[in-house]
Amino acid sequence: MNDTPCPYSRMILVCLNERPGGEPACGARNARPTFDALKAAVATAGLKETVRVTKTGCLGPCDLGPNIVVVPEGRLLSGVGPGDVPAILKSYVQTEM
Ligand code: FES
Repeated sequence: MNDTPCPYSRMILVCLNERPGGEPACGARNARPTFDALKAAVATAGLKETVRVTKTGCLGPCDLGPNIVVVPEGRLLSGVGPGDVPAILKSYVQTEM
């Protein structure tokens, strides 16, 4: 096992989980456009080296999705859509600038 410092000061985990059979899942609730918009916004801000936007599996509250977790703040953002990206940037990403 290697144990090295994480290069990112902030991570934004976007649930893109899919479930067959119509059960609640963020992937079926427009989570992908939000993920794409967050990735693009972080890149445009020039923060790809310090802020990581990554897809993840189920974060728990599927009925409230799409869900995002921001760390190290430990915030769970629910019902997120592409239109929320500016607010997420303002609250979490632009603090890196
Ligand atoms: S499927 Fe996204 S939180 Fe469970």
